[in-house]
Amino acid sequence: MTVTEHSPDLPYPPALTAPAPRGGCPFAPPPAYERAREETPVTRVTLWDGSSCWLVTRYEDVRSVLGDARFSARADRPGFPFLSEGRKQTSVGRTSFIRMDDPGHARLRRMLTADFMVRKIEAMRPEVQRLADELLDRMTAGRDSADLVAEFALPLPSLVICRLLGVPYADHDFFQGRSNTLINEASTPDEMRTAAGELTAYLTRLAHEKSGSPDDGLISRLLERGELDCDDVAAMGVLLLIAGHETTANMTALSVLALLREPAQLERLRADPGLIDGAVEELLRYLSIVHKGLPRVAVEDVTVGGVTVPAGEGVLCLLNTANRDEDVFASGGGLDVTRNARRHVAFGFGVHQCLGQPLARLELRIALETLLRRLPEMRLTVPITDIRFRTDMSVYGVHALPVAW
Ligand code: HEM
Repeated sequence: MTVTEHSPDLPYPPALTAPAPRGGCPFAPPPAYERAREETPVTRVTLWDGSSCWLVTRYEDVRSVLGDARFSARADRPGFPFLSEGRKQTSVGRTSFIRMDDPGHARLRRMLTADFMVRKIEAMRPEVQRLADELLDRMTAGRDSADLVAEFALPLPSLVICRLLGVPYADHDFFQGRSNTLINEASTPDEMRTAAGELTAYLTRLAHEKSGSPDDGLISRLLERGELDCDDVAAMGVLLLIAGHETTANMTALSVLALLREPAQLERLRADPGLIDGAVEELLRYLSIVHKGLPRVAVEDVTVGGVTVPAGEGVLCLLNTANRDEDVFASGGGLDVTRNARRHVAFGFGVHQCLGQPLARLELRIALETLLRRLPEMRLTVPITDIRFRTDMSVYGVHALPVAW
């Protein structure tokens, strides 16, 4: 256990722990974090092992950390903050570029940028729309209720990322199970290690198969460049497969729940489907599903919001409190589908800003527009107090969403 040196001008031990519990509203950040943003916007928190790091809660401060190369994303640097023992054991040594710094990070990321450009992703629109319609045809055939997560929100992005990568969707039970374990902070270190090992072995095997008989998927195209071996491609595949379906799936289901809870907003959107693009940005801001804080470590002393973060100390950048910062988003605690929310940081900021955001936007726009149009009577079949929220997961959402139409 390492206990980091504390600054003399701040209380020690820190008053806050991370992660902090959520309060009454399931969409709002933990009240202790919102209080911190108002009172001590850059403050220390205690982590699960008794070590501590800095919590950054304001919009401008979050952007300044994430946009600053003096903060590293490398999990093997001393002082890097982990949110659980399992996360610590599976992050160190993992080579995917989300945990690298430039220039190594940029070299790998550049190999993917062409595939995720807006124009390239927009060309997938007819295919994504067709998949959304097929899933809804199946879900509604002869029935008037279903779990929206299992039958629509999860399979849609999962099918899309499988096609993009060239991963057989038939294996979805296998990789969804493993990725769920990996993004669950409550998983034991053993469970996380096993899940990471099995997922990596699966993608390595797939990469070897494809190097013998390529298809038109991204995994084959990466191998054909000749710059990466099967292990490198598998590490990238793991990152894309997890990031590509967990996030959009949870955003879709949580967005539906948020809209069902706010009938006036839902009606506005139904009355004017032209609002959908802006509504998706507002929902991304309001829900901020990557909710545990983006981890970084200072490689030299850096002043953030007037506080000096010494070299070698960790930082958690909270996207959910940043996205409700009243200095940037007036009445930020409320959902307003007509708001211009494009400046939100739900996709992060700086060199690691989400690579998949054009794809996430396309999927969310199509998923929500199609649901609202085809199921105008959609409603919850249980009280919201019976809904299980994914509080332990690094991606927030709901485990199931029982709806009728
Ligand atoms: C990075 C959020 C969908 C691929 C990130 C980061 C955030 C994020 C906050 C920054 C992590 C950091 O700086 O430490 C989201 C949200 C999504 C979403 C909210 C959906 C609503 C997707 C999709 C893909 C994807 C569909 C597609 C494959 C990635 C990748 C990175 C990333 C590869 C790492 C980028 C880098 O390190 O350069 N995402 N994401 N994401 N995301 Fe997403």
